[in-house]
Amino acid sequence: ALISLRQLLDHAAEETYGVPAFNINNMEQLVAIMRAAQRTNAPVILQASRGARSYAGDVMLKRMVQAAVETWSEIPICLHQDHGNEPGTCLSAIQFGFTSVMMDGSLEADMKTPATYDYNVNVTSEVTRLAHAVGVSVEGELGCLGSLETGMGEAEDGVGAEGRLERDQLLTDPDQALDFVTRTKVDALAVAIGTSHGAYKFTQKPTGDTLAMDVVKAIHERLPSTHLVMHGSSSVPQELQALFNEFGGEMPQTWGVPVEEIQVGIKHGVRKINIDTDCRLAMAAHFRKVAFEKKAEFDPRNFLKPAMAELDRLCARRFEEFGAAGNA
Ligand code: G3H
Ligand code: 13P
Ligand code: NA
Ligand code: ZN
Repeated sequence: ALISLRQLLDHAAEETYGVPAFNINNMEQLVAIMRAAQRTNAPVILQASRGARSYAGDVMLKRMVQAAVETWSEIPICLHQDHGNEPGTCLSAIQFGFTSVMMDGSLEADMKTPATYDYNVNVTSEVTRLAHAVGVSVEGELGCLGSLETGMGEAEDGVGAEGRLERDQLLTDPDQALDFVTRTKVDALAVAIGTSHGAYKFTQKPTGDTLAMDVVKAIHERLPSTHLVMHGSSSVPQELQALFNEFGGEMPQTWGVPVEEIQVGIKHGVRKINIDTDCRLAMAAHFRKVAFEKKAEFDPRNFLKPAMAELDRLCARRFEEFGAAGNA
C-alpha cells in the first residue's frame, strides 16, 4: 500500500531503524528496489527529483509506482518528492499521488542561492499547512549541505571561491532546528552535518569526525519526535568504483559516507537516508562491463539485467544495514 512518510517513519522510530530513500527515474530502478524490498521484507521510500519527473513524465511515474504497489502489495511504499524547490512543485507532486514532499527552503527556488531563515520558515509552513490538510507528509531542510573537509557548501555562498565556510556556517544549528520545526510543523527534517550530494564527497577516507554526528545527537535531544533525514548519504563503495574503472570508467578515487556513521545516526533519530549516487554507480558499472566485454551486444535488456541485479544487491544490503529488513 502507498502510505505517508509520517506513517512509515513513525514505525521506524518505534523500532529504532532507518529507511533508505532511493531515487527512481525509470522502470528498471523501481523494479530493482522493489525486488530487494520484497526479499528482505523492508518498507520502501521511493523518491523522485524534479529531474526524474521531467525525465519519466508525471503520469508515467505515477502509473509505474501504482504498478509497483499492485505487484508488491504487501510492502508499504512512500512516494516522496525529493528537493521540491517551491510550493508549486510540492503541490503538483501531491496532485500526482505523492504521499510525501520535501520543501527545500534552505535554498531559493533557483536551488543555487542560500535562502534566508525567514524565507525558509515561511515557504515550508505554507507547504505543511496544505499538505497536512490532505494527509501528505512534509520534509524540510535547515542548514547548508557541504563538506567540513573543504569548507565548501553546495550552493554559491557569497564569500567567493577562496572563502571557506566555518563549521557553524555549514552545519544545522540545533536551537534553530527546534524553532524551525515548532514553527513549520514538518514531519521530517533534513540536517546539514557535513555530507554533500554526488560521488565526490571526501578526498580522504572519512574518520570519526568527518561528519558532525554530535549535531545529530543535539537535534534529536531537542526534537525527539521529528524524523531526521540524512541527504548525500551514498557510501560510494570502493568495489563499485573499481568495477566502473576496470571497464574504461574514469572516476577519480573518492570516499562517501561510511555506513557505520549512518548507523550511529540511526541510534539518534535519523530515519530517512537519501541514496542516489550509489544506485547510479551500481548500474553504470555494469553498463560499462557489458559494453566492454560483449562488443557485439545490442539488446538493451542485456545491459539492464546485470545493472538491475547489482542495484538489487546494493538496496538489499542497505535495507539490512539500516535495520529496515524484516519491518515491512
Ligand atoms: O539530490 C539530488 C538527487 O541525487 C537527484 O538528482 O536532480 O539529477 O535527479 P537529479
Ligand atoms: P547521494 O548523492 O549521496 O546519493 O545523495 C542523494 C540525495 O541526497 C538525494 O536527495
Ligand atoms: Na528529499
Ligand atoms: Zn538530497
